[in-house]
Amino acid sequence: MICLGIESSCDETAAAVVTDDGQVLSSVVASQIDLHEAFGGVVPEVAARRHLERLSPTVELALREAGTAPGDLGLVAVTRGPGLAGALMVGLSYAKAYAFARDLPLVGVNHVVAHAYAAFLGAPLRYPVLALIASGGHTVLLRLDSARSVEVLGRSRDDAAGEAFDKVARSLGLGYPGGPQIERLAREGDPKREPLPGVRPIGDTLDFSFSGLKTAAQQRMQAGGQAADIAAAFQESVLAQLLSRTRLAIERTGASRLVFAGGVSANGFLRERLAQDLRGVGVELQVPPFEYSTDNAAMIARLGLALYAAGETSPLDLGAEPVIHPFKP
Ligand code: KG4
Ligand code: ZN
Repeated sequence: MICLGIESSCDETAAAVVTDDGQVLSSVVASQIDLHEAFGGVVPEVAARRHLERLSPTVELALREAGTAPGDLGLVAVTRGPGLAGALMVGLSYAKAYAFARDLPLVGVNHVVAHAYAAFLGAPLRYPVLALIASGGHTVLLRLDSARSVEVLGRSRDDAAGEAFDKVARSLGLGYPGGPQIERLAREGDPKREPLPGVRPIGDTLDFSFSGLKTAAQQRMQAGGQAADIAAAFQESVLAQLLSRTRLAIERTGASRLVFAGGVSANGFLRERLAQDLRGVGVELQVPPFEYSTDNAAMIARLGLALYAAGETSPLDLGAEPVIHPFKP
């Protein structure tokens, strides 16, 4: 079966064509970064309008690149949340109309959970899955026993990891999005010259907190610290926290594999150091191909196909869910 995936939850308009064994036939991502850069972040109304302009040509391009005719499709998968309400509604309305007109089944998927499925593009899907998702909007530890059974083991109590990267980057005088720029600058810095505090565990939970670390980095900058050293120290502290919670989750679940996905997993330093540390305890780190760490529609299609195979379809009156709490698959 071949699935058309559609993603429009934030600032990327994306469409992809994926087979049910996880092969990506095409993945097109039309980024809006240029549009929002001047504002230092995403402007919701501007994002929704751009999705409306770009979605149809993006889907057509994805089908053309895949060499797939609409008649070859067996499923339409679309992000139903979490995300910006107006942006989600554009993708959802398009997907519903597309499915209805061609008499195709529709599956609405959770964007955050879909990030984990990016690790199964071009790779076999095996359960149970322990996944650390760190993106611009969320930082969560998930355990999945199937596409329809998702347990949230831990979540950020305040900022998401990517959000902290973006805000610290802004204070260091770097552009948006901040993650890649901090990663680049950190290579020239020495974390020991501006050490930042670690974040103590929050009770007995696997929850995260990044806002104190963000503030500490910003204060060092105001106090005249070197941006490269602060960037390097910030990354070290983020790593330390991701590692401590992940190690605990592994101990509690007995997992032998960890999926690390979401925009922050594009960070080579974090990927390498996490992999190295987990190897030491016999745990394999599974990351998505680099281009599928950040937002894309191939991961939406991959989760949609898994849900459909598990018996799920969505009605045509499916609504957008800007905030999904607690997480639903
Ligand atoms: O998953 P994503 O594309 O969108 C959301 O669902 O939020 O994640 C975007 C986030 C941004 O905060 C961006 O700064 C961060 O991922 N990011 C990175 C890197 N590349 C993107 N953070 C750290 N290092 C990177 N190389
Ligand atoms: Zn995302």
